Amino acid sequence: MNILLIGSGGREHALAWKLAASPSCDRLYVAPGNPGTASAGENVALDVSDHAAVAEFCRSRNVGLVVVGPEAPLVAGIADDLAAAGIRVFGPSKAAAQLEGSKGFTKELCAEFGIPTAAFARFDSLEAARAHVRRHGAPIVIKADGLAAGKGVVVAETVPQAEEALDMMFGGGLGEAGASVVIEEFMVGEEASVFAISDGRTFIPFGDAQDHKRVFDGDRGPNTGGMGAYSPAPVVTDEVRRQVMERIIAPTVAGMAARGTPYVGVLYAGVIITSEGPKLIEYNARFGDPECQVLMLRFQGDLVQVMLAAIDGRLDQLAPEQVAWSPEAALTVVMASDGYPGPVKAGSVIRGVEEAAGDGAVVFHAGTRLVDGALTASGGRVLAVTARGPSVTEAQRRAYAAVDRIVWPGGFCRRDIGHRAVAREAKARQG
Ligand code: AMP
Ligand code: GLY
Repeated sequence: MNILLIGSGGREHALAWKLAASPSCDRLYVAPGNPGTASAGENVALDVSDHAAVAEFCRSRNVGLVVVGPEAPLVAGIADDLAAAGIRVFGPSKAAAQLEGSKGFTKELCAEFGIPTAAFARFDSLEAARAHVRRHGAPIVIKADGLAAGKGVVVAETVPQAEEALDMMFGGGLGEAGASVVIEEFMVGEEASVFAISDGRTFIPFGDAQDHKRVFDGDRGPNTGGMGAYSPAPVVTDEVRRQVMERIIAPTVAGMAARGTPYVGVLYAGVIITSEGPKLIEYNARFGDPECQVLMLRFQGDLVQVMLAAIDGRLDQLAPEQVAWSPEAALTVVMASDGYPGPVKAGSVIRGVEEAAGDGAVVFHAGTRLVDGALTASGGRVLAVTARGPSVTEAQRRAYAAVDRIVWPGGFCRRDIGHRAVAREAKARQG
């Protein structure tokens, strides 16, 4: 079967690598892709916002499966338009992608179906929102309703900080995304990302991970898209996983189906493990980046068959070897351009990427570009250096050994990815 993958980040390189390894994959096209995906398939210059053009491409190349990496095309309805053209798409419909596209939508679903999450209220006016904040006090969490590229959440430690966030959002600081605001209770606990794949009716768990959002070592500095991740997440014990599946994922899948908008695709639940058990922070309608990179190193099944089964509503019929996982840990270190998450300079040359792979390590590309045969940086997050090992400690050692073989004066990475899990493992060894 020919496959078209949409996207161009490290997540998409990891997906391309895994899709291409499936015996069911004949030709893999990636739109627009990056120099890394070009080694797994063929990059094509398609305007993915032109759904008719994407459908036409699929017909002309006999594409039997489209996999959508990022959320923006899903929220724009690419899955609906391709499905209407008779093309199988892995990814939720526009209506179902509201789980990521609108925080208010998700909170209301939680309220309707008893899914544990922070207490919340939704506001369309600054005055009412301010009054609510003054009544409740801090800490309190302010969230723009719509997609805001990771800038839409402010965890306010004081009431003035909360008011400042409200002024910014209602003042148009985030555009349309801030026209409606959700205000939440502040929850305390360790965070994890838990994944499931749903066919609209049933679901299968699809691994868990923890990421590092802050730019600097020690989890300091501004938030980023993610500077590294590891899987499995030690905080997600078998009991926690069971609770997340039973109390959060299952009622979500059932609730979306009951509302007539069944969810087909990856459900990425950001959860917080509180003293009352796991609670939902937010949903994403896609794989995480860089969480996907560690999941793909651990997944041993057939990703194409899993995606087709989800689209066809027969996830419960997959054979165990099609959904197998390595018991090993995986860890990924993101190498970013100097200045990230602020403005960065493109064009610096990166050497040693091919030499870095091996010894259990794989280097996924994100913002890279080939210029006259030289690999150069072309974005904020540039490489995801990923490795597997019998423990997080060993996966971390292998990943950093690979990082150290890469010569890139224009970039940086955190040196402490996985520190919580490594400390846990050290403590366990000491008994
Ligand atoms: P989100 O974009 O919704 O994932 O939020 C970004 C980050 O803000 C999360 O990863 C949490 O660290 C934090 N956060 C969001 N909502 C809450 C909450 N209700 N209580 C505590 N922390 C939160
Ligand atoms: N790494 C966080 C995300 O993909 O949303």
